[in-house]
Amino acid sequence: MFEEILLAVDGSEHALNAARMASDLANAVNSRLLLIVVAFERIPSYLGEPNMQIAINNRLKETEKILRKAREAVGNVSAEIRTEPIEGDAAEAIIEVAKTHNSDVIVMGSRGLGGLAGMLLGSTSQKVVSHAPCPVLIVR
Ligand SMILES: Nc1ncnc2c1ncn2[C@@H]1O[C@H](COP(=O)(O)OP(=O)(O)OP(=O)(O)O)[C@@H](O)[C@H]1O
Ligand SMILES: [Mg+2]
Repeated sequence: MFEEILLAVDGSEHALNAARMASDLANAVNSRLLLIVVAFERIPSYLGEPNMQIAINNRLKETEKILRKAREAVGNVSAEIRTEPIEGDAAEAIIEVAKTHNSDVIVMGSRGLGGLAGMLLGSTSQKVVSHAPCPVLIVR
């Protein structure tokens, strides 16, 4: 059960809670793979050079930092850990990865970095819950 766990992170506290939960789950059910993904918006080519390269480099540094923090929150797990920055709309990219990897469960936060107070679920988690090909564990 839950051989492959897909953990989606965006650098928020909720996502770090999700990382801890994914870690506990992986250890509890002896998962084989914990795939940590962060999605970033496509960088428009109209920026031109060198601006596009600068934007890509900044984005890369940012996603690496988010993935590093998530790995720290995951800590020790017996499962193999893989990290992957993905491009595109967050929810669509997460669903796409879940489909191609045949993930058994997606673990993510209820809210993220977005600022709209009062909302119980952010738009990313709402969209993933609605369209995911597998169970989704939403962590507060
Ligand atoms: N770019 C992303 N890459 C990977 N996972 C993400 C990304 N954005 C959000 N998530 C995941 O979705 C969870 C919920 O974030 P979501 O974006 O739905 O809430 P929000 O930022 O508060 O609201 P909104 O984005 O609608 O303003 C996060 O805790 C994280 O697990
Ligand atoms: Mg968000």
